[in-house]
Amino acid sequence: MPQKISRIYLTGFMGSGKSSLGCILANTIGYGFYDLDKEIENSANKKITDIFKDSGESYFRDLEAETLVKVSKSSHIVVALGGGAVLRKSNLDLTKSTGKLVYLRSSASELYNRLKFKTDRPLFQTVDNVIISEEEALNKIKLMMAEREPIYNQADIVFDTDNKTLGMSVDSLKNYLEKHFEISYEKN
Ligand code: S3P
Repeated sequence: MPQKISRIYLTGFMGSGKSSLGCILANTIGYGFYDLDKEIENSANKKITDIFKDSGESYFRDLEAETLVKVSKSSHIVVALGGGAVLRKSNLDLTKSTGKLVYLRSSASELYNRLKFKTDRPLFQTVDNVIISEEEALNKIKLMMAEREPIYNQADIVFDTDNKTLGMSVDSLKNYLEKHFEISYEKN
């Protein structure tokens, strides 16, 4: 009997497609969708960049943990986590104990190409509030990836998104999940 999954959490680096893929996946399988960063912005009534600027990263991380606890009370949901959420052990444990954690893996160069025109990633755009060059940005991604991969790799499922269109990734992740688990709409 395949195991039922009520919550699918997506993790991975900034730009790995958690929000775009998560939203389509949720619609396709009939689950609700939460974007954790958007939930934080709604409850703080501020953009993530401003939360970082005004109150610092550790304040943001506390809000992130609180918001995750709230969101995880719903069931039949797909949740796009922020890229740093699982670095806090309690968040990692919560995702794995209440659902399945999927790591959307991409190479540093692909992430860089997806992120280079974005201006809303405080950790990636600046160091000490100074705008960084392309080379520094790529190096920063590589460094952060090296630190984070051991944690991302603790996910229940590691799913490669390199060289796949968004549509291909959604299809193949959906097929994988349906093959290995029971995706059920019934509330239980
Ligand atoms: C962060 C990723 C961002 C956001 C914040 C910090 C990180 O979310 O939560 O800027 O530490 O990787 P995305 O991964 O959705 O960009």
